[in-house]
Amino acid sequence: MTRIEAEQILKEHHQEHVMRGFDALSPEQQSGLLQQISDLNWKEIALAGSQDEFPCGELSPLGAVEIDEINRRKAEFDEAGYVAIRQGKVAALLLAGGMGTRLGLDKPKGELNVGIDRELYLFQCLINNLMDVTGEAGVSIPLYIMTSEKNNDETIRFFEEHNYFGYPREDVAFFVQEMAAAVDYEGKLLLEEPGRLATSPNGNGGWFSSLKKAGLLEDIHRRGVEWMNIFSVDNVLQRICDPTFIGATILSGKVGGSKVVRKVDAYEKMGVLCLEDGRPSVVEYYEMSKEMAEATDDRGELLYAFGVILNYLFRVDELERIVGKSLPVHVVEKKIPYITEDGTYVKPQEPNGYKFETLVVDMIRMMENNLPYEVVREKEFAPIKNLHGVDSLDTARELLTRNGVQL
Ligand code: UTP
Repeated sequence: MTRIEAEQILKEHHQEHVMRGFDALSPEQQSGLLQQISDLNWKEIALAGSQDEFPCGELSPLGAVEIDEINRRKAEFDEAGYVAIRQGKVAALLLAGGMGTRLGLDKPKGELNVGIDRELYLFQCLINNLMDVTGEAGVSIPLYIMTSEKNNDETIRFFEEHNYFGYPREDVAFFVQEMAAAVDYEGKLLLEEPGRLATSPNGNGGWFSSLKKAGLLEDIHRRGVEWMNIFSVDNVLQRICDPTFIGATILSGKVGGSKVVRKVDAYEKMGVLCLEDGRPSVVEYYEMSKEMAEATDDRGELLYAFGVILNYLFRVDELERIVGKSLPVHVVEKKIPYITEDGTYVKPQEPNGYKFETLVVDMIRMMENNLPYEVVREKEFAPIKNLHGVDSLDTARELLTRNGVQL
């Protein structure tokens, strides 16, 4: 894109301020900025300030395969799961591209030390959890790690420094997700340094297209992987490539599965797996009416009872089928560091603008079916979103200790 073209398009969108100081930039900075301008997604930027659209279809409850049934059929599920793992049909995919702004670390979230008397990093806990399965199965499992432009080098350096926490490094592949521009509350593009637009990772929904762009789909095919277990970086207790979950999903004949926990009460702030026009869909807690949230069955149990915990299993052929289709864009309020007109760098303490994200959870709506699979919350759900309070380092430490993990 030429300077004139950039000026023109910025004028059309009332963003002329972006070119302020352009002449003082080095030729590299100038061409970098022109590239960023040409990559802008104006449709997305126009969404600044808008609310997510509520689900438009008709919602109805969706039960889960519950803990009692899982316990009863454990041997059968385990066997199917271990067979798939031993045949190399299962891969793990860690979503580690987020900024972890709520935690406020100046390094990748996975580098958080959850240990007290010893070092025990989030990344290390996840690898340990995965190695429980590979140890039992007697085979390694390919592990793909999605990072972002902002944390990729540091994440790789950290894994190298710690010798991949004992995981075979030839089975680990990193790839970088895409970025999206961020805007202030007036919808104006922010600069993070002279000649550079403020950008942030574009949400966890783009993981499969980013994986494909990075050329890793070939690796997946070459290895014969048929199922991918997607999980977040911050649930320190989660079971990864859990054979029972994998077996239950395969035997159900469905194209995917979601680990869910029973909500503590009708209003717990989590996305609930239900049906939307007969297809599986996750409805956020703020999208539910009071009647829906409180509705119970004849045993007095909540009808919309099962919340998702960002641990999904997807069939690879189904992922390939939906990969080009667009996911809804969510407008999220965030703290976005920026430079003022006079060049002062500001690191806000409160949200100051919007970023644009697609979410992995919206992939479920694009698929024919999905198996909600209940897990015991106290054993598998300890997300670390904050340092203290709800879903925090404090609560996760307590749960780890209760599960016998030495801190
Ligand atoms: P969160 O929704 O908790 O976002 O991510 P976050 O960026 O880590 O934290 P906050 O909201 O800024 O405090 C859930 C999972 O999705 C990954 C995160 O790394 C985490 O594992 N994620 C999130 C990505 O991989 N890319 C993204 O763009 C966003």
